[in-house]
Amino acid sequence: MKLFDVYPLYDVTPVSAKGIEVWDDKGQKYLDFYGGHAVISIGHTHPHYVKRIEDQLEKIAFYSNSVQNPVQEALAEKLGKASGCENYTLFMCNSGAEANENALKMASFHTGKAKVIAFRNSFHGRTSAAVATTDNPKINAPINLQQEVTFLPLNDFDAFEKAISSEGYCAVILEAIQGVGGLDEPTTEFYQFIAEKCKENGVVLIADEVQSGYGRSGKFFAFQHHGIQPDIISIAKGMGNGFPVGGILIHESFQASYGLLGTTFGGNHLACAASLAVLEVLEDENLVDNAAALGLYFRTKAAAVPEIIRVKGRGLMIGLEFDFEVADLRKKLIYDHYMFTGSANNKKLLRFLPALNITKEHIDLFFEALQKALK
Ligand SMILES: Cc1ncc(COP(=O)(O)O)c(C=O)c1O
Repeated sequence: MKLFDVYPLYDVTPVSAKGIEVWDDKGQKYLDFYGGHAVISIGHTHPHYVKRIEDQLEKIAFYSNSVQNPVQEALAEKLGKASGCENYTLFMCNSGAEANENALKMASFHTGKAKVIAFRNSFHGRTSAAVATTDNPKINAPINLQQEVTFLPLNDFDAFEKAISSEGYCAVILEAIQGVGGLDEPTTEFYQFIAEKCKENGVVLIADEVQSGYGRSGKFFAFQHHGIQPDIISIAKGMGNGFPVGGILIHESFQASYGLLGTTFGGNHLACAASLAVLEVLEDENLVDNAAALGLYFRTKAAAVPEIIRVKGRGLMIGLEFDFEVADLRKKLIYDHYMFTGSANNKKLLRFLPALNITKEHIDLFFEALQKALK
């Protein structure tokens, strides 16, 4: 059987990895400044992560959500403390799309309404409601068009007020910093306006922190740069450092009832052990602060490269904008300088999304290679 051919592939075959270093099948070493779409948060094969998963595997890897699971409870407890979101409850699933799907469903249950406000250039995943709130008609199949979604520009106060004060909306969903779209984020005033208007109109505010969460922006959650408190927060990617896991943090004011949400695999013992290991390493190695500090260092280096016209993002969630399309530059970086970087919907943007424990030396190596690749 062949693979269903939906991914354009680079001709690289990684076979092992450690930290931000990745080796291919020919023994060539690469530096991973992309973490496989912002997934690798604490570095590949981190020894504590490997041990935690191995230990759990020896004990019990999986049982369904029909029995007590102390590992899941320990994770909820630790996540509440690490994120400063102790007044939320945790529902676990397996991916970012699934997290947003459950977040939107919760909002609809809670309000009894169905319409959603999302933002232009958003990406929230590929499942039913999540893809409908994704501003990309190419990945919305006819079956997804049944959802009623209003796409608004960021920072348009009038358009937002007009939409939200009309009937039928259950949720506003926003990425605290847009990922796939190209690192745009609204102003603090707009965030606060959204939060205020959601409250006023009884609409649920969902912060999609699938990419920007878990310390990547230099705070545990990127919305925390703006002093707001969403009703539901969706998480995945960095949460498991490669282990497929996701979840939603639901404000304690929301009522749970048996059977309202559910999943077979979500919150299994192995996923929880992987997620606990990530939180332990974030704490032990002080990685949220490292992301903030290295983000600033990155910006000072970027300021010295005249070809870069704009630096977008926060912490170690960074986009470098050029006045040309970056596809060839990314090819040069990977094939000539052995460095992984990312792209965005904005074709002139190069994305830099490394593990949060990289060092200044790694950033220096990136800029040396970038300068050469730009010649
Ligand atoms: C902000 C955001 N939300 C949701 C998703 C979907 O996550 P997944 O691919 O795990 O379903 C992504 C993936 O890139 C994302 O960046």
